[in-house]
Amino acid sequence: MGENIQELDEQKIEELQVENMQINTLSKSLKKKVKVFTSLIQSDVLDGLKALPDDTFNVVITSPPYYWARDYEVDGQIGHEDSVDEFVNILADVFDEVQRVLHPEGVFYLNIGDTYYSGNGQPKGKDPRSPSRNFMRKKFRAVDQSGWDIPKKTLIGVPWRVALELQQRGWTLRSDIVWNRVNAFSEPSARDRPHRQHEHLFLFSKNRFYSYDRSGLGDEEDVWNIPIERSTRIDHNAAFPSELVRRCILTGSPDGGYVLDPFVGSGTTLDVATELGRHSIGIDLNSQYVEEVIQHLLESEYKSDSWSDHRALLDKEPSGWEDWSGNRANFRKPGSNKKKK
Ligand SMILES: C[S@@+](CC[C@H](N)C(=O)[O-])C[C@H]1O[C@@H](n2cnc3c(N)ncnc32)[C@H](O)[C@@H]1O
Repeated sequence: MGENIQELDEQKIEELQVENMQINTLSKSLKKKVKVFTSLIQSDVLDGLKALPDDTFNVVITSPPYYWARDYEVDGQIGHEDSVDEFVNILADVFDEVQRVLHPEGVFYLNIGDTYYSGNGQPKGKDPRSPSRNFMRKKFRAVDQSGWDIPKKTLIGVPWRVALELQQRGWTLRSDIVWNRVNAFSEPSARDRPHRQHEHLFLFSKNRFYSYDRSGLGDEEDVWNIPIERSTRIDHNAAFPSELVRRCILTGSPDGGYVLDPFVGSGTTLDVATELGRHSIGIDLNSQYVEEVIQHLLESEYKSDSWSDHRALLDKEPSGWEDWSGNRANFRKPGSNKKKK
């Protein structure tokens, strides 16, 4: 179904030296005949990001694989590193590349959950509600191995370790939003601590002064009470809810703006972006997810379209940029030190 990028533009390929990548572009016509592009890149996240232009996306929203939480059953997946430091570094390298493609006035929302260090010396039990967690019985997770220099049963603090590494690498950390998963599962095996109900959603900017539309927050500030949703699009049980994505897109991009999710999974970000009239790109390594998302989009009034048209659009200013209140609120554009009249 996909067009191989190599057949599309030989010159660009030489320039980018990108291999092992498939790009599928679709579009959907909204009311008033506005056409919205959606592209899916099936590749490793770093390869996919390298195909994208500098200083482009208004908002990047993503939920990467959490440390030793699931098995996406694909070679090269992130999340099964031997040490937390290795995991943090790999993610930070990916987000360096996100920084390159983010618009100078853009924002990056990162949703990430934590993991406990069990140090049990044996594989953990199974989770009947989540088949993708049953791998814990087969694969010996690094967090179940003894010998780490932290106490057994401790929460590792993975989200903050990632956030602080990104800060070290030049990101401005603007908010640590608590996503209160109001209908989260209880954890019957956790008898001596509260059950986990929240996850982190960090808001980063590339520059100190950036565009942001606070009206997109509705009436909540840095605690977002949003139920988890079961993905109805494809069989992927680590999807984030569309309401969470909606707030990220509304606060971070104008009408006709450019949205990116480098770990797109079941395609939540793509669906919400289209609904809100934004053009979007998603990357995922798992070809089965990508195929299922494309299938879902084709069944939802999307049509096949051309990557070169989508790519050419990214070089233009988004249609709603000038009038967007988020843009107007940024009275000091990156690189300028004078207040703009
Ligand atoms: C937490 S899920 C994302 C779920 C998504 N937010 C949604 O709403 O469905 C993480 C995704 O990262 C993908 N992934 C894992 N390692 C990857 C890699 N090296 N490159 C690209 N994608 C990867 C997995 O296939 C999985 O779909």
